[in-house]
Amino acid sequence: MTQPLILDGNAAAAALLEKAQTLMATLSVKPHLHVVRVGDDPASVSYTRLKARRAKKIGMDSTLTELPADTTEAVLLEFIQTLNSDKNTHGILVQLPFPKGSSIREAVILEAIHPDKDVDGLHVVNTGRLWSGQAGLRSCTPAGIISMLDHYNIPLEGKRVVIINRSQLVGKPLAALCLERNATVTIAHSRTTDLAAVAREADILVTAVGRVNFITPEFVKAGAVVIDVSINRIFVENEEKLVGDCAAEVAAISSAITPVPGGVGPMTVSHLLYNTVLAAQLQSA
Ligand code: GUN
Repeated sequence: MTQPLILDGNAAAAALLEKAQTLMATLSVKPHLHVVRVGDDPASVSYTRLKARRAKKIGMDSTLTELPADTTEAVLLEFIQTLNSDKNTHGILVQLPFPKGSSIREAVILEAIHPDKDVDGLHVVNTGRLWSGQAGLRSCTPAGIISMLDHYNIPLEGKRVVIINRSQLVGKPLAALCLERNATVTIAHSRTTDLAAVAREADILVTAVGRVNFITPEFVKAGAVVIDVSINRIFVENEEKLVGDCAAEVAAISSAITPVPGGVGPMTVSHLLYNTVLAAQLQSA
């Protein structure tokens, strides 16, 4: 059995960062990313710190605002309005999800961010632009996946793509981006009848289920490309480990597969920084 190609997210993300830096060098402003987090969920703490740190590392300005878990929707809305009107803030990212028990409504917050500063690409205006083929800020994980496939010269045109995830953050925008590349796309989910059979039709299988060992060889056509978006935290002999959805045996039947960690994750961060440069360019035009 031949070994699959390991789709190295760190290498592909570095190439995307280079593109962001090249564009940044043409701007007369220094892009500034403002990351906002409510509460102290450990995964969100590490992701938000990483995003703010990476932005600085490539020469942008970044600010991380950490708000208490009991922050109200009204307070957060007021803070977002301040950032919307601040001409030195080019990109705003509010980390999701909000803490358990918080009364903050996700949709209300996402719609409050000015679409031109929406570096997450989650505002309905940007979602509408995406589905109608107009230029706009694209959401980071889906756009990062497309950049990863491009980096490894894996074509989408004419391919069957099956995405097991129907969220606003991953499944829906990724479907639009794959369609834009002339792929034939299926979005599958927990109510899909015979999910394994649907998944087996995929030339490119994208999974973002969030369950360890969920994707077994039964879900994968021989030679398929497998993109594992999930980052699940497990404990092995009291040590925390990050794993995706794929069982270990899946690699042997795929032609290419993303590792977890070090696959899609770094692409998301790089695309966020790329979007921040685009947003700064948009606002300084
Ligand atoms: N939580 C997990 N991924 C993301 C993301 O891409 N953006 C935001 N805002 N929150 C997230």
